[in-house]
Amino acid sequence: MSENLTVTDSRTGKQYQIPKEIVLPENLTVIDSRTGKEYPIPITNGTIKAVDLRQIKVSPEDFGLMSYDPAFMNTASCESRITFIDGDKGILRYRGFPIEQLAEKSSYLEVAYLVVNGELPTKSQLEEWKHNITHHTMLHENIKKFMEGFHSDAHPMGMLASTVAALSTFYPDSRNIQDPESRTLQAYRLIGKMPTIAAYAYRHRLGLPYVYPDNDLSYTGNFLNMLFKMTELKYKPNPVLERALDVLFILHADHEQNCSANTMRCIGSSQADPFVAAAGAIAALYGPLHGGANEQVLRMLGEIGSKDKVPEFIKGVKAGEGRLMGFGHRIYKNYDPRAKIIKETADQVFEVTGRNPLLDIALELERIALEDEYFIKRKLYPNVDYYSGIIYQAMGFPTDAFTVLFAIARTSGWIAQWQEMLLDPAQKIARPRQVYLGADKRDFVPIEKRG
Ligand code: ACO
Repeated sequence: MSENLTVTDSRTGKQYQIPKEIVLPENLTVIDSRTGKEYPIPITNGTIKAVDLRQIKVSPEDFGLMSYDPAFMNTASCESRITFIDGDKGILRYRGFPIEQLAEKSSYLEVAYLVVNGELPTKSQLEEWKHNITHHTMLHENIKKFMEGFHSDAHPMGMLASTVAALSTFYPDSRNIQDPESRTLQAYRLIGKMPTIAAYAYRHRLGLPYVYPDNDLSYTGNFLNMLFKMTELKYKPNPVLERALDVLFILHADHEQNCSANTMRCIGSSQADPFVAAAGAIAALYGPLHGGANEQVLRMLGEIGSKDKVPEFIKGVKAGEGRLMGFGHRIYKNYDPRAKIIKETADQVFEVTGRNPLLDIALELERIALEDEYFIKRKLYPNVDYYSGIIYQAMGFPTDAFTVLFAIARTSGWIAQWQEMLLDPAQKIARPRQVYLGADKRDFVPIEKRG
């Protein structure tokens, strides 16, 4: 954040508010040992601009210095005003509001409004937002036909990614990305239709008839309806499970520049429509090192099988035989605040569903890991995915549908990130540089002359 200094002009007596960095510029002085030249590089918001390094050359023909940062370990790719994380302290805020307060006092759709629009809605804004999302939950009948083409054992994330990409063909108006009204319409469509697609994927798998959305129900209540309604005339979601799912959705709404958000921004930067960009983000989320970890946690707990096998499993992890899934995070070097809230939510869910026996293994695994030098030294703590799968399983979700639940919730974050990128004048098509270390120029060798 830029601070102002009050400057008085002695000639006129007038006072001016001037950003501190203009009056007292902060610089990083770089001395190039190859040439002995000195370069002052301006520091703004704790960063230097990578393009400012390009002036550092050994000769006029030199391309100039670049920074090398595989996996963006220390590179900010944007300025953002959506989500704040302090990974060392375990702090997460959406638009300034602590995640703990939002999880306790808000609803998913209200949080989605906040994440996408920047402010908490007024009553009428929230009603309008809910109404518009609810009235965009239906899918075109051809989407149903499209989904019927998937094998019954198709992974739900594959179905979700493909179907969301297919929405692009149903809504060609979504290409009007510079039109704010069109962007809002696509936000309603994406947030509205994600649960419907997810539920259709689930029912397709089981060979059950699709259930149409019920507009009388809440966002999560309707999702449970589309998943679990059988022959009853009207589905009544269990209020505890409906709220628990809503809280889980709040916790997953955004998480700044993670792999899938970065994918959404990257695809969006080519000015592709938001449906194909979201399909790319879903694909990124699918991976086991990102949203796919919750699925892997359950598989891991199932393989461990019982509490007494935990020490042996930890030994294997430390010997490099595999990772403790649901542990560790690029940003959090402390307990993930979302994991804390999920642990509390688990108790409420288990009162309704009965205790998931895997919880005991998970608690023992966490206890032992948090006391172990290997995990302490590397600052590895449970992340959001560690306990979420245990709750989802108790609620009746199949293991490979867990990441789909994550994707539904994260849709609001992806939209917010995409929109912020589009409106940021500093952004252009995302295109990293490379350090080429391959062969130098060489002549083509005819096949008969190759060794
Ligand atoms: N189990 C065991 N060791 C681990 C784990 C783990 N879960 N995570 C990291 N480490 C170790 C690494 O082996 C490495 O050790 P070393 O220094 O001896 O080589 C060290 O900790 C640092 O790990 P990196 O892989 O360099 O950390 P990075 O920031 O690249 O990875 C990640 C973060 C991918 C989340 C990693 O911790 C991991 O694979 N965790 C398990 C998968 C998971 O739970 N992912 C979900 C993340 S939350 C989300 O995306 C929603």
